[in-house]
Amino acid sequence: MCSHLAFLTTLVLVASVQAGPRAYPRQACTAAATTAASASAATATSTTPLHSAARAAGKLYFGSATDNPELTDQPYVAILSQSSMFGQITPGNSMKWDATEPERGVFTFAAGDVIADLAASNGQLLRGHNCVWYNQLPSWVSSGGFDNATLTEIVATHCGTVVGHYAGQTYSWDIINEPFNDDGTWRSDVFYNTMGESFVPVALNAARAADPKTKLYINDYNIEGTGAKSTAMVNLVKSLKAQGVPIDGIGIQCHLIVGEVPSTLKENFEQFTALGVEIAITELDIRMTLPSTTALLAQQQADYETVISTCTEVEGCIGVTVWDYTDKYSWIPSTFPGQGAACPWDANLVTKPAYDGIVQGFESC
Ligand SMILES: *[C@@H]1O[C@H](CO)[C@@H](O)[C@H](O)[C@H]1NC(C)=O
Repeated sequence: MCSHLAFLTTLVLVASVQAGPRAYPRQACTAAATTAASASAATATSTTPLHSAARAAGKLYFGSATDNPELTDQPYVAILSQSSMFGQITPGNSMKWDATEPERGVFTFAAGDVIADLAASNGQLLRGHNCVWYNQLPSWVSSGGFDNATLTEIVATHCGTVVGHYAGQTYSWDIINEPFNDDGTWRSDVFYNTMGESFVPVALNAARAADPKTKLYINDYNIEGTGAKSTAMVNLVKSLKAQGVPIDGIGIQCHLIVGEVPSTLKENFEQFTALGVEIAITELDIRMTLPSTTALLAQQQADYETVISTCTEVEGCIGVTVWDYTDKYSWIPSTFPGQGAACPWDANLVTKPAYDGIVQGFESC
């Protein structure tokens, strides 16, 4: 797998498809060589199921986000429910605050329960997502004008009730979502502005009390490589651990751009796991400016491989979740106009070269 010939092939290939600021020097034993076989194709050649590939690489799962409206699409659900393909699912929206506590003290779990029940019936792990986030927050929270003591009670009740409802059903939970600005300062939102940093321990302690077994995560984007935001995450986790606040994992979202995978992924993943927490790639997709071309799809394949092989190489990286598996239900086109094609399956549920990149990433040594 790591032959000299394969490495030479890799160098030639990387040189020929180099399209952006990526293409940092690869280790000889990352398995990019097979990229050559399908670099000119628009579809994948591998049929190795992705969760099986993750397990063979020593990881806990390969999974996908999903969302309730998609579950009427039977061909979509048939693939999602293949337990050798996806060993884990995450609800895209139905466990968020606006879905679970739309009015103070009124909890609604019907939609979240559909996802939890699907995971259980498929034998898949469930990641809960999420307890405390500035977005998709009902106005009774964001505009309630609560004082510190009252909002503290509201946060503790929300996290305790939601995590408690799913106690025993989740592998992990994104308790805190996106707390930082890109420069590493705290995001200005109702939680930070009212409670200061204390919203983090309040939520984590309430979650731990409600479900002592689920792994408690802080999840964010633009913490893939090193930089100010990743440093802020390191400092937060150190501070929580020093205070005895429960924290088990860092979720690295990985909403990336084709040709722009940071060159410091591995260094950064290792500085996180050195804190004594696990890490997971929680929302992976790699978008491009449309239309997709053969060259862009080949670069995307290489980029998926880079991300997955980094998780493979870092022991404390326990699993990978894509932010839905198909372009049919990707959040990208509506959020980033003119961009898309970010997922490993196309909008017709056909696997793309990115799929081969994922398999190759799990097979890297
Ligand atoms: C909110 O109250 C907590 C104690 O519960 C305290 O640690 C924190 O400093 C207070 N934050 C603000 C912004 O007043």
